[in-house]
Amino acid sequence: MPERTMRLNFHGNYAGSHPQAWKAGTNTPGELDLDFYVKYAQIAERGLFDGIFYAADLAAQGPNRKTCPGLDPVVLSAALATNTEHIGLAATISTTFSEPYNVAKSMATLDHISGGRAAWNIVTSYDPMAAPNFGMTELPPKEERYDRAKEFVEIVLSLWDSWDTDAIDSGNGNGGTFVDSAIHPIDHTGRYYSVRGPAQTPRSPQRRPVLFQAGASEEGKSFAAQVADGIFCVALDLSVAKEFYAEMKTRVKKANRNPDDAYILPGIYMYLGSTEEEAKRALEEQADPAEAMKHLAVKLSTSEESLNLDETVPDEILEQALINAQSDGHTRSLVEFLQSERLTVREFLERQPLRGPHRVLVGVPETIAGWLETWFVEKAADGFNIGNLTHETLTIFVDEVVPRLQARGLFRHEYQGKTLRENFCGSA
Ligand SMILES: Cc1cc2nc3c(=O)[nH]c(=O)nc-3n(C[C@H](O)[C@H](O)[C@H](O)COP(=O)(O)O)c2cc1C
Repeated sequence: MPERTMRLNFHGNYAGSHPQAWKAGTNTPGELDLDFYVKYAQIAERGLFDGIFYAADLAAQGPNRKTCPGLDPVVLSAALATNTEHIGLAATISTTFSEPYNVAKSMATLDHISGGRAAWNIVTSYDPMAAPNFGMTELPPKEERYDRAKEFVEIVLSLWDSWDTDAIDSGNGNGGTFVDSAIHPIDHTGRYYSVRGPAQTPRSPQRRPVLFQAGASEEGKSFAAQVADGIFCVALDLSVAKEFYAEMKTRVKKANRNPDDAYILPGIYMYLGSTEEEAKRALEEQADPAEAMKHLAVKLSTSEESLNLDETVPDEILEQALINAQSDGHTRSLVEFLQSERLTVREFLERQPLRGPHRVLVGVPETIAGWLETWFVEKAADGFNIGNLTHETLTIFVDEVVPRLQARGLFRHEYQGKTLRENFCGSA
């Protein structure tokens, strides 16, 4: 087995955002049905995926989009912890709309009940519709959101460390006791938060659940370089992805960390079939070019009327899109892709006929395995966050793509560690 092997997360939300998903559960909609999620989790675990990843939307409705239903990622992950044994459980929580003490407690709880399989995807959120759900009229500016996030994570890490390893005396079977001298207040007073501590939840199996982060602005990249074990990103094109990968590894090194300790994971929407036609049909069933067009206009901060189907996107729109982008993570890769490929809007929508931001991959297992290998070997990715899989396509992936990756020495044959940190980060 070569030293560098691929990391794979199953992006659970987007399995639930297309027409088939709504029919897939015993309840309607399937997205409210625990059995639906358990089935995915168990197939992904059979395929030795590192983790199941849940994004968090914090507003049900907004301009330019359909109603966006969603379960709470931490509660859902906790339910899955009791139905799985090895797979990691990565739940998104926003630092803009939570308190560090709560997050430290929820994630440590998830870590305890899953036996060390918890991960926190740290987001600062970009959806302006979330603000009015939390007593704010608008989102704080991006710089402030990241500033808060840095302090927030610092506090959570201190809380996780506030119980020493010897804080619980097991009493040799005669009933345990807590050793107060080994449980420390953190006495944090900062710009945004004041937290006395200690944490209420004793040190969890991983001590520090795995940290994911997504964001591609200057502030986002600098934050990820400092704290993230896994960096979730949008990458539509190999050369752009390679640049992002190299830049992030350099930044991680400059932050005095080992670049190998920060895994870069582009998102992918995958459509698999036993023939190319079958794979294309699977995509067609989910494609919604009208929604994709709206999404394109929103991500470019422009109107649909300003985009002509048979022309490329005007340069001034592309340049303008990066100024004050709601999310550089979503917009930058799109702009760079449109600049380099010079596709007409129609050609772009044929290639990316979905509402979401990630690269659409369509094909048979051999082609898909080859594609993943190229991006991995060429150092555009250390692994992938794979979404939009139905139960059926996830099963094909596990039965036919995973063995091909294993045969090429790119993917594990078994879970080597007990905790997510051991499996994903390769260290305790
Ligand atoms: C791939 C990706 C996934 C994200 N997932 C979420 C999410 O689930 N919930 C959320 O509130 N924000 C999410 N975000 C928003 C980021 O946390 C961040 O606030 C936003 O991208 C703005 O920062 P940026 O300009 O540095 O990218 C995501 C961003 C990216 C790029």
